[in-house]
Amino acid sequence: MKRNLVWDIPVRLFHWLLVLCLCGQWLTAEVLEDAMDIHFYIGYFTLGLIIFRLIWGFLGTKYAKFSSFIAGPKTMLAYLKSIGSKQHTFSIGHNSVGGLILPAVIILVGLQAISGLFTSDDILYTGPYYDSASDDLQQWMQWLHHNIFDLLLAIIGLHLVAIGWYLFFLKHNLIKPMLDGKKAVSTKDSISHSQLIKAIVIMCLVAVFIYWLVEINPPPIDDGYYY
Ligand code: HEM
Ligand code: HEM
Repeated sequence: MKRNLVWDIPVRLFHWLLVLCLCGQWLTAEVLEDAMDIHFYIGYFTLGLIIFRLIWGFLGTKYAKFSSFIAGPKTMLAYLKSIGSKQHTFSIGHNSVGGLILPAVIILVGLQAISGLFTSDDILYTGPYYDSASDDLQQWMQWLHHNIFDLLLAIIGLHLVAIGWYLFFLKHNLIKPMLDGKKAVSTKDSISHSQLIKAIVIMCLVAVFIYWLVEINPPPIDDGYYY
């Protein structure tokens, strides 16, 4: 069967940019020295990505929408029972269990980025809202920022195991469609285009919001710097 479009360009861009950003955040925080300013900038960009995908989950194309894959426990259980069988029927968009990666990532990466805004390295760099938070809130946010990433790594590990299971056990490649957007489905089940104009308008609005959030709204800082 001819391969037709299922994943729109914004979903694919979101996915691969998120992978790059999370690698960048880990590198700039844990490996590279003196890279905290870059860490902040990538963090702001990542927060923008997450807000964009949240909106796209309601306004995007058919398979990008949360309503196309969020299901109840019965459907998820039936899916989990069928995953061990080679007769497994493949979903066109996300399956009901695998799709949970999206809300999980939106919540966890969102919290990671927001807590970063209230975090300080106790030397030179402080997030733009660090000084305006109470001591208790600063400690909470610092704790979140230091611990959420490990949970995120565990979820990413599961995600990669599931994709490996599809590839090697079920002989079904999910990676290629995440790259070129296409799957072997009928034209009726595919999407006609990526709705790029709508996506660009949303991206611009999100960019303006992030600029306001990190540059205009934060209170001035007397001692210390933020980027
Ligand atoms: C930092 C690491 C990663 C994160 C946080 C992540 C997160 C996600 C998220 C949120 C989705 C849902 C996409 C959406 O609907 O917008 C997704 C889907 C997907 N990801 Fe990843 N991903 C990561 C790494 C990878 C890697 C390395 C691969 C390839 C080897 C991969 C392959 C896929 C595929 C194939 C799907 C679509 C699954 C399906 O068909 O239902 N991901 N991922
Ligand atoms: C999703 C985006 C982000 C990710 C994945 C991320 C990840 C991390 C990680 C893994 C660490 C090291 C934590 C540790 O040593 O236990 C860290 C440290 C840090 N992050 Fe982020 N971060 C993000 C966004 C931000 C943002 C937006 C800011 C500030 C505007 C920020 C500020 C900081 C600071 C100041 C530290 C140093 C904390 C310390 O030395 O105690 N991060 N980040």
